[in-house]
Amino acid sequence: MSENNKLAFATRAVHSGYDSSDSHGSLNPPIYMTSTFCFDSVEQGAQRFSGENPGHFYGRISNPTQEILETRLADLEEGEAALATASGMGAISATFWTIVSPGDHVLVDKTIYGCTFSFMEHGLKKFGIEVTYVDFTNHNDIAAALQTNTKVVYFESPVNPSMRILDIAAISAVVKSHNADIQVIIDNTYCTPALQRPLTMGADIVVHSATKYLGGHGDLIAGAVVGRQEMIQQIRLFGLKDMTGAVISPINAFLILRGIKTLQLRMERHCENAQVIAELLDQHPAVKSVFYPGLKTDAGHRLAARQMEGFGGMVAFELKEGFDAAAKMLNRLKLIKRAVSLGDAETLIQHPASMTHSTYTPEQQAEHGISRGLVRISAGLESVLDIVADLKQALAQG
Ligand SMILES: Cc1ncc(COP(=O)(O)O)c(C=O)c1O
Repeated sequence: MSENNKLAFATRAVHSGYDSSDSHGSLNPPIYMTSTFCFDSVEQGAQRFSGENPGHFYGRISNPTQEILETRLADLEEGEAALATASGMGAISATFWTIVSPGDHVLVDKTIYGCTFSFMEHGLKKFGIEVTYVDFTNHNDIAAALQTNTKVVYFESPVNPSMRILDIAAISAVVKSHNADIQVIIDNTYCTPALQRPLTMGADIVVHSATKYLGGHGDLIAGAVVGRQEMIQQIRLFGLKDMTGAVISPINAFLILRGIKTLQLRMERHCENAQVIAELLDQHPAVKSVFYPGLKTDAGHRLAARQMEGFGGMVAFELKEGFDAAAKMLNRLKLIKRAVSLGDAETLIQHPASMTHSTYTPEQQAEHGISRGLVRISAGLESVLDIVADLKQALAQG
């Protein structure tokens, strides 16, 4: 056991939230394939609906397999409670629809995942919520952009796809000194709690695409929200139950529980492989720039070393000859898969400007720091020698 008699992260990732003696000794939790739950009496049913009795009552609100996953996620993120959802976008939208109302203001870092940006532009703005974007590396700009009606401050770190590193503790402190009620929300998809736990740094809510490293095998779509008990309950009862219906299937909850058992091991290998890939690209004559916080020359290196327990599995780079050369290089790859998403066993490569971040117009891409030449790699779990050999042959042909 580690300090304070608390089990270590890797141990909690395997055991937390599940007691096999509750399920006939079954080593793994049962998958409760049910849409509804029976009541002993009409009185008990009413109590479940009112919250007086904590049992499950309908699968759009909760399910026992989902509950085990939620307990485990809350434990690993060091939050009070968690909510598992049907997708990362389900987690993000259920959270926002619970917190914001017309007339509120949301402050967002200048670069975020493409569909989250789209949600801000086409979702929040459409319903009368003001959204502004500033560069969150500049804390004075954040302070200046906060308004009396600001309800949420939202960002990612590392940022998808540019790999900027944002200072979670410092940003939370700036926001809270302005108004302690503003909710600081961080998308922790790139790190997972194995590498970074924003709730311990002053953030209020963490959201995830569990599709990525948490699931870890590219075989499902899911999401999660972690935060204070009262807030998570509100998101469950409004954002999930009534506004999005983005409920996770019990099978996917089970698969994520299975994925999380190996999370720490996998993150270690993702980080090791990404470091080797970044160093190779950094030395390569065809490459103009590499964005990876594990490189000592990277602008975010020192902050990442302090804030993260590993530099992560994502690398971005630009070739000297720009997008056309990058497209040729991508098309020559034999082992590395051309695909969006990240955090899978397979190394994946994609072009943000035309794929994950094509929700930004070309003008917005220029404004928000998504260059046309940028290429994003999600380092997989293969032998790094094979990944490097594939990259080298694709880069060698000029
Ligand atoms: C950082 C980040 N957040 C959220 C999402 C959305 O997650 P999902 O695809 O599970 O809805 C993604 C998807 O790529 C992502 O990369």
